[in-house]
Amino acid sequence: MRTAIYPGSFDPVTLGHLNIIKRAAACFDRLIVCVMINSKKQGMFTPQERVELLRKSTARFPNVEVDYSDGLLAAYARRRRAHVVVKGLRAVSDFEQEVQMAVINRKLNPGLETMFLASSEKYTYLSSTIVKEMARYGADLGEFLPREIVEDVNRRMQELQERKD
Ligand code: PNS
Repeated sequence: MRTAIYPGSFDPVTLGHLNIIKRAAACFDRLIVCVMINSKKQGMFTPQERVELLRKSTARFPNVEVDYSDGLLAAYARRRRAHVVVKGLRAVSDFEQEVQMAVINRKLNPGLETMFLASSEKYTYLSSTIVKEMARYGADLGEFLPREIVEDVNRRMQELQERKD
């Protein structure tokens, strides 16, 4: 069975992520979408909540599994017997950091290849950070998030703003 892992912060999953999930799931027997910790980012949702949002958004893909790990991607891939990591590339600005991570991951786990999928041009501008910024100002998120989770994101943003007041 050919298994690939699509790792990320997914805070929250966007339509850009979902587009990569759909295309990667068509290339492998099984795709594990794994919520992982990016030490440079602060979360709007807990990792468990992100897993739930991903599960809601990917329920229609039978060969997609959603998981969480707070460890190293290279070790997680070894444990799950996956030899491929899938990443989406939006722009040249993503490239340097992604290649650095791919090289480090292969150093830690020589059997692990990283494959990049070019983002759909519809989503090159989209990121979880931008979505959170738009949510803060009450913009309509329907074009940017899977419809199953728009309410969850709006509700969480409202809670965060009420907590601040
Ligand atoms: O969506 P992101 O924030 O770009 O995803 C980055 C992520 C979470 C995939 C990356 O930070 C990661 O792999 N974290 C797990 C720890 C790890 O293996 N780091 C890379 C080698 S030091």
